[in-house]
Amino acid sequence: MKIISNAKIFSFSILLLLPSTSYSLYEKPKNHIKTTTFVSKSFEMGLGSIAAKTFEDIKFPKGHIGIKSFDAELVNQEGNSIPSYETYLYHWFAIKYHKNITMSLNPKLHRPEDAFFKRNEGTCNGGILSHYWGFRVESRGTSSNILDPFAIEQGNPTKIKKGYEEKWLFNIMVIDTRGAQDKKCCIECRCDHMNLPKDFYNVTRDIHNQPLTTNYKGGFQGSRRMVSFRYKISWVDWNKHQVPVKVYILDSTNRIRSNGSKIIHDCQVEYTIPENGDGDSPHVQKANIPIEKGGYLIYGTAHMHSGIVNVTLYGQDGRTLCTSTPKYGRGNEAGNEKGYLIGMFVCYPQPGSIKIHDGEILALESRYKNEFCSGAMRHFYIYLAEELP
Ligand SMILES: *[C@@H]1O[C@H](CO)[C@@H](O)[C@H](O)[C@H]1NC(C)=O
Ligand SMILES: *[C@@H]1O[C@H](CO)[C@@H](O)[C@H](O)[C@H]1NC(C)=O
Ligand SMILES: *[C@@H]1O[C@H](CO)[C@@H](O)[C@H](O)[C@H]1NC(C)=O
Ligand SMILES: *[C@@H]1O[C@H](CO)[C@@H](O)[C@H](O)[C@H]1NC(C)=O
Repeated sequence: MKIISNAKIFSFSILLLLPSTSYSLYEKPKNHIKTTTFVSKSFEMGLGSIAAKTFEDIKFPKGHIGIKSFDAELVNQEGNSIPSYETYLYHWFAIKYHKNITMSLNPKLHRPEDAFFKRNEGTCNGGILSHYWGFRVESRGTSSNILDPFAIEQGNPTKIKKGYEEKWLFNIMVIDTRGAQDKKCCIECRCDHMNLPKDFYNVTRDIHNQPLTTNYKGGFQGSRRMVSFRYKISWVDWNKHQVPVKVYILDSTNRIRSNGSKIIHDCQVEYTIPENGDGDSPHVQKANIPIEKGGYLIYGTAHMHSGIVNVTLYGQDGRTLCTSTPKYGRGNEAGNEKGYLIGMFVCYPQPGSIKIHDGEILALESRYKNEFCSGAMRHFYIYLAEELP
């Protein structure tokens, strides 16, 4: 998360160019949805290794468009999906940034204003949870589709300053757990990869108690392979028939306070479930999050880790806006790995049926199994439309 929290974010007033003509359902035009599958540069993974990668200027549909879906997963060199019990997609984030087109090639001459992130409309502080899309491996089983005529508008030329261009980057982290004895522990709770001591892999014998060779660089000895990040985007060209939705990512670890004149959102991103929980009842974490500008709820889902029981977003009056529940795998194949969190339930309320008011304080309540876990996440993704067709 380092790269994200250190990011310099400039806020601009958002000019939402809403369609001026209302359009009737009876004249519904055919939406020409285009879909392209892209593949990142491949990178090598060995047993026990961790890769934390940032891919800048990724391939992304060009022009003024509305994104309808965004799916991603890990594949091997043959293009086959890799099961989680082999190489685990620990996180992926797609982050938008604007870049000075004629910026110097010399990094020493780069000014902060030459490249900066353009965050979603979420409430978290600074660059925290600023991505538009991004989960873990459960992306495979979580719908990212946005129903017609709604879409996430991107590449609007009136929102890109002269001399700049809009680009996207991926930040991903992948853990190769082949050969690991406790795969769940490795992926869920002990991956403090940012602060590993120099002698973290301070071992002289492998898991079969055989001495390691002198060129040993960490991880377990074993086969290495090339892995790529494959992503599929569907989009439409932007026109008056598309209705924009705003993307919010809420965090149930948000510690809201005020400095007297302004609400400060202090999202922790991660959370530790303490060791001595109180038995069977789930561990509950709540936050009351004010939403400055409301809208109609079009899409809702959560990002949580294995061990999630459920998570619910409530309105200020206690009405349920959306509950998301996990899907756990039962098989062996990629996307259905036994015991792994493989997907999250997505809410698609009838457009217009759920309205979040300006200034409404939403209550986010997440439940995990009451077991020690560090790095647990409790994020809720909502898409809001300010107007209906
Ligand atoms: C982009 O960077 C170049 C080189 O530093 C600078 O001359 C130019 O003014 C910058 N453009 C904008 C729009 O700031
Ligand atoms: C790593 O090995 C050295 C030499 O055997 C030892 O002094 C040191 O304590 C070890 N570190 C850890 C974290 O085990
Ligand atoms: C509160 O924060 C806002 C935004 O950062 C700032 O403009 C304002 O001066 C702050 N007020 C106080 C009393 O610190
Ligand atoms: C969430 O889980 C708790 C504990 O199992 C249960 O009591 C509650 O009914 C669930 N909430 C929803 C909305 O499913």
